[in-house]
Amino acid sequence: MKGVVFIAFNQMVEDQVGIDVWEKILAQVMPETEGIYTSIEEYPDSELFNLVGALSETVNVPVPTLVESFGEYLFGILNKKYPIFTEQKADFFSFIESIDGVIHKEVRKLYENPNLPKLECERVDDKNLNVIYTSPRKLCFLAEGLIRGAAKHYQVEYSLEHPQCMHRGDDHCLLQIAIH
Ligand code: HEM
Repeated sequence: MKGVVFIAFNQMVEDQVGIDVWEKILAQVMPETEGIYTSIEEYPDSELFNLVGALSETVNVPVPTLVESFGEYLFGILNKKYPIFTEQKADFFSFIESIDGVIHKEVRKLYENPNLPKLECERVDDKNLNVIYTSPRKLCFLAEGLIRGAAKHYQVEYSLEHPQCMHRGDDHCLLQIAIH
């Protein structure tokens, strides 16, 4: 995972629960990086998962819930850093549909060998969009949080179903988004 993601995670912890908690989870995980990251550099996924696990124990919030909240926070950071992608798309569904073919395609130019998921979109009708998520990292809860961040940005009320999930043995996750 790229440093940009670790930096956002560090920022979320400091913002929402304080620097003391960040210091505490670092002391618990003792990563070689000592919690110092450069955005374009690659760091082991296991380090992020260990930090999330330690935070989950410390604040007593289950890992999937934390990962989803982090996704929402990460959206804010990415959108601030690269505002062009939301500026280019007038509505929520067109934005989601542009992740694979536009946004993550650009990410491949900005970062060396990024680890990105496959996100296929199927527009059912005006109010319903299916997103098929596939990734060996199984970060579907992060995707759910990023989608929540995007919905807030576009000021859209929606509900999301996750009837197929890689964590339950399916070979992909199905995220069904319905706008109200
Ligand atoms: C709702 C919008 C988005 C969704 C659902 C989404 C989904 C994801 C997910 C789930 C990952 C984790 C990797 C994996 O699952 O295998 C990821 C990684 C990433 N995404 Fe997106 N993304 C979104 C928007 C963006 C935007 C706006 C940017 C800005 C340029 C961006 C840049 C990145 C970067 C840099 C990574 C890390 C790559 C790495 O660590 O190697 N994404 N994305």
